[in-house]
Amino acid sequence: MAKKRVKLRLKKEAKIGLIVIILLIILIIFGINKYKEYQYHQTNEYKLLEKNYSKDDVSLILDKLDQDYINKLIDSDYNDNIVKFINEKYFIKNNLDRYLAYFNNNKNVSYTKIVSLVNTNRDSDYYEKIKETDVSKDYLMLVNKYNYLNEDFIPNDMVNVSLSYAFSGNKIRHDLLDKFVDMANAAKANDILMVINSSYRHFDEQKKLWESRRLSQGTDKADQYAARAGFSEHQSGLAIDIAQYNSSEEDFELTPAYNWLTDNSYKYGFILRYPKDKEDITGFSYESWHYRYVGVEVATKIHNENISFDEYYAYYIENN
Ligand code: DAL
Ligand code: ZN
Repeated sequence: MAKKRVKLRLKKEAKIGLIVIILLIILIIFGINKYKEYQYHQTNEYKLLEKNYSKDDVSLILDKLDQDYINKLIDSDYNDNIVKFINEKYFIKNNLDRYLAYFNNNKNVSYTKIVSLVNTNRDSDYYEKIKETDVSKDYLMLVNKYNYLNEDFIPNDMVNVSLSYAFSGNKIRHDLLDKFVDMANAAKANDILMVINSSYRHFDEQKKLWESRRLSQGTDKADQYAARAGFSEHQSGLAIDIAQYNSSEEDFELTPAYNWLTDNSYKYGFILRYPKDKEDITGFSYESWHYRYVGVEVATKIHNENISFDEYYAYYIENN
């Protein structure tokens, strides 16, 4: 009898033990799930979804923005312009706040245009936020209305250009001479005699040039056609103004040389530096004659993407 009672008691205790174990397991699973949920709530993904960004938007934001900026988004209201800007081809994350500020003041300007303008500093006036350009970039250095060359900058590998390829007194950087000669010879095979009209200009020469324009035409016009001293690409020794020798046409744009260059200059590493549709970026009136050496690879990219050198530099050089 006693044995049977002990057996029954043991059976009862085992049952209780089993129930306790099951309850414990349920509690642990519940706890783990709760903990996982808590952890997910701490993620950027959850917090951004909570802000109403879509799943695709969130992937894009996580891929393109830094943690600091993501924190900012989490702390502010949903803004669909963020994703619009991130989707732009030439989006630069460090410029995002400036894109948004520009948008707020210019609601009728497209996202693409805003990215292009801000990347090239057009949210500041010309000659306003200036800095000395990085000359270590060599033939990719940027000289424009925001990036200048020092008064004493003179390229050290300058050579005279022979009268077969230039009007007298022209100097360019040594490496460029070969490239220009190759290009001019290729044009010559098409009966086009291409010569350099103007090339390297010393700081002082550019100063006189701009000053004389200012006296005759006023500051606005002078700024439209000539760079202020230090801000001219001609001082870099990498820019050339081209003329066609065997053409009576005054306007270079109407010469066969211009057409030939439009189709071929990039193959020799030269780009049209101040295009018609980029005046609001370059800050200079269209110059059909002014070419800049950047090397074949970069010139080809600029040609294919139809961007100015200023845009190229901002996105592909400074941004990296
Ligand atoms: N005409 C070009 C813009 C210069 O002065 O450098
Ligand atoms: Zn020029």
